[in-house]
Amino acid sequence: MPNTGQRAAAHDWWRTAAIYEVYVRSFADGSGDGIGDLTGVRARLPYLAELGIDAIWFTPWYPSPMADAGYDVADYRAIEPLFGSLAEAEKLIAEAHELGIRIIIDIVPNHGSDQQPWFTEALAAPAGSAERARYHFQPGRGAGGELPPNDWTSMFGGPAWTWVGPAEHGPDGAPGEWYLHLFTPGQPDFNWAHPDVRDEFASVLRFWFDRGVDGFRVDSAALLAKDPALADLGATPTPGSSAPVNSGGTGPVLADPASPHPFIDRDEVHGIYQEWRRIADSYPGHRVLIGEVWLPDAERLARYLRPDELHSAFNFDFLCCAWDADALRGVIDTTLDAHDGVGAAPTWVLSNHDVVRHVTRYGRADTAFSMTDRQIGEPSDLALGTRRARAAALLTFSLPGGVYLYQGDELGLPEVEDLPEELLQDPMWERSGHTNRGRDGCRVPLPWSGDAAPFGYGPDGSTPWLPQPAEWKNLTAETQGGDPGSMLALYRRALRLRRAEPALTGSEQMTWLPSPAGVLMFRRGDGPDAITVVINLSAEPVDLPAGDQVLLSSAPVSGGLLPPDTGAWLTGR
Ligand code: GLC
Repeated sequence: MPNTGQRAAAHDWWRTAAIYEVYVRSFADGSGDGIGDLTGVRARLPYLAELGIDAIWFTPWYPSPMADAGYDVADYRAIEPLFGSLAEAEKLIAEAHELGIRIIIDIVPNHGSDQQPWFTEALAAPAGSAERARYHFQPGRGAGGELPPNDWTSMFGGPAWTWVGPAEHGPDGAPGEWYLHLFTPGQPDFNWAHPDVRDEFASVLRFWFDRGVDGFRVDSAALLAKDPALADLGATPTPGSSAPVNSGGTGPVLADPASPHPFIDRDEVHGIYQEWRRIADSYPGHRVLIGEVWLPDAERLARYLRPDELHSAFNFDFLCCAWDADALRGVIDTTLDAHDGVGAAPTWVLSNHDVVRHVTRYGRADTAFSMTDRQIGEPSDLALGTRRARAAALLTFSLPGGVYLYQGDELGLPEVEDLPEELLQDPMWERSGHTNRGRDGCRVPLPWSGDAAPFGYGPDGSTPWLPQPAEWKNLTAETQGGDPGSMLALYRRALRLRRAEPALTGSEQMTWLPSPAGVLMFRRGDGPDAITVVINLSAEPVDLPAGDQVLLSSAPVSGGLLPPDTGAWLTGR
């Protein structure tokens, strides 16, 4: 039984922070062009302060041709003009700080944009040039070099190589080279063995730390180091094949230590984060590095969280886990054990901009999540999913460690599964040959107020970049703000209590208590301030411990019985 009490000594802000993900394009549109922007975020900072979060994580806000919604960065030191300007980002950082909210920004180090100057210079330079050495350019295979250099495939489907050869056929008939992109062709992978790449990213980190950002979310953090031989994957265990739970991620899984994967979780990657940690630590005010690390093995993930590397990482095992007491308890225990081993704080997350929203997942027959089978269109009982999402919020917010919220979680938004195909923008849709509708359904602009689209997301009469369902008139922040039974009211209250109760964030202690099948029950903290958490995932009501008072519950409790799919926080005070 894990007991994480000994970690409480190192009680730094990120260890317990509630961090809210803002997907800029879909949060709030100040300019009226249908696309969210920094003006929109600035106007909503008071809403976020009232919600009770500690930090915002911004998905990429840099100039980008948007081959992958901004994860193809053309300039790491500027702001996408659709979103605003550097001056406005600086204002936003200052305004958030005044409200006690820290700012985390995405950094995308595995790949840049094909429109970035380094890459256009590389394309213009000949094979073997210094310009090309910052990327992975290789001759092709086959008699005419017309076959990709190896058998790697892109995370979004299709080959991971694009041939620039035909354009290069010169008088000497040289076949030309291919370049590597683990995602779209618009996202060429950097060569992290090249000193220019390391120096450039060190300088980018400093650029933003100098402007006051409190940390970085490191995109695709396990993918940066590549096998120098660029060997075929061949029989190397393929991501997902031995990882039924966490086979997801746009940057999937798996390195068998005995046979290292050619691009996932290679040992060389850790040196990069040790260097980054030294940079972060050289700034005042506890700047943090948060890894997007999709690995099925909690011990391998924990290696990124050693004291001289990243501060924290998303817990995708928890996100992908089915709504099932035994499975969740297994993930919680494994998480706590693995993090304890390196002295890192665990984190808990239910949704983000890459996955199907959990209200929808939890209403399906199969409640687990997998990136490769998103189950779009599978029937979902949204009332049940919402009920479970409420209980899941109380579970998530009462576990020891940090929590991540995705914008709209607090409104209980479901996945939008019926977006018209002609509006789908996620490259997954095209690259999967129209078999995977991709991630647009969790990226639909937020409903803020009013009875009809754009629901206060943008000025009246503006057209959001993706259409919002008419039913969202019942889910606006305005409607829910006035309803004490709403998801928003539950989130506000839970986040407040989480901050105020010493048992929840003042200590990292957690002790499982005996409970009936299908029920998670544990105690946080000790003595009179202790809080007992009960989450009933079974089909029957269960007795709550006698004598305790209900501090908060996700559905009404009466007669000392906790209904199915309900959670409660109890106090003996
Ligand atoms: C991460 C991002 C995802 C993006 C991918 C490539 O997984 O979360 O949205 O497509 O990296 O940068």
